[in-house]
Amino acid sequence: MTQQKSYIVGNWKMNGTQADIAILKAIADAAASDMTVDVGICPPATLIAAFAQGAGGIGVGGQDCHAKATGAHTGCVSAAMLKEAGATFSIVGHSERRADQHETDADVLGKAQALHEAGMSAILCVGETLDERDSGNAIAIVTGQLAASLPDSASADWLSVAYEPVWAIGTGRVPVSEDIAAMHAALRGTLVDLLGAAGASVRILYGGSVNPGNAQEILTIPDVGGALVGGASLKAETFLPIIQAAPR
Ligand code: PGA
Repeated sequence: MTQQKSYIVGNWKMNGTQADIAILKAIADAAASDMTVDVGICPPATLIAAFAQGAGGIGVGGQDCHAKATGAHTGCVSAAMLKEAGATFSIVGHSERRADQHETDADVLGKAQALHEAGMSAILCVGETLDERDSGNAIAIVTGQLAASLPDSASADWLSVAYEPVWAIGTGRVPVSEDIAAMHAALRGTLVDLLGAAGASVRILYGGSVNPGNAQEILTIPDVGGALVGGASLKAETFLPIIQAAPR
């Protein structure tokens, strides 16, 4: 079990305009009174700079970055560019990017390394599809993803893992607590195998249909160090109760 603070991160995906800065301010103001939980929000790249100005003690993150620092990569954003805009971390390897942009474990490894080289933190996502879950091999598949995408230099100082079952994202379906516990225990084992003692304190977040009604149960499962929250992070009314549900 980790001694780290709980880490609650909102992933806004392709949602949000300047008009939504007020939502961030409401979240930042509420979170400022309670520094016992680490909170972050990943807006679309177009809002990072504006978010960073009003974020207070909340971390502002990207949703992806390129593995290279510069070059002919139309439409992509480097880690240093995210940093210059005001981000301190980024999600990498989200299943929507693995599916839509065909990102491989090797790609995700390169992105995580790029963030570290830029002095930023990473949230490295892994998770199985419904077919993979139904095949009975979810644990082997997801720990395999982690092993293939985790940088050798990973440590709790700059890297967190997010377990997000693809079939739980945006569906309202959540694995039973025993299955979350089993996956997080397996991921912890992989982290310790690969990183030694440093692997014991890397936070492992759960993501996929976390909401105010299920957050407390999920966040108190052993080895769940926080949550990566999509839809429920878009409004203060649904994101703040998830932060409040995090163990102190
Ligand atoms: P969700 O998304 O909370 O809307 O299921 C989670 C995620 O994709 O990070």
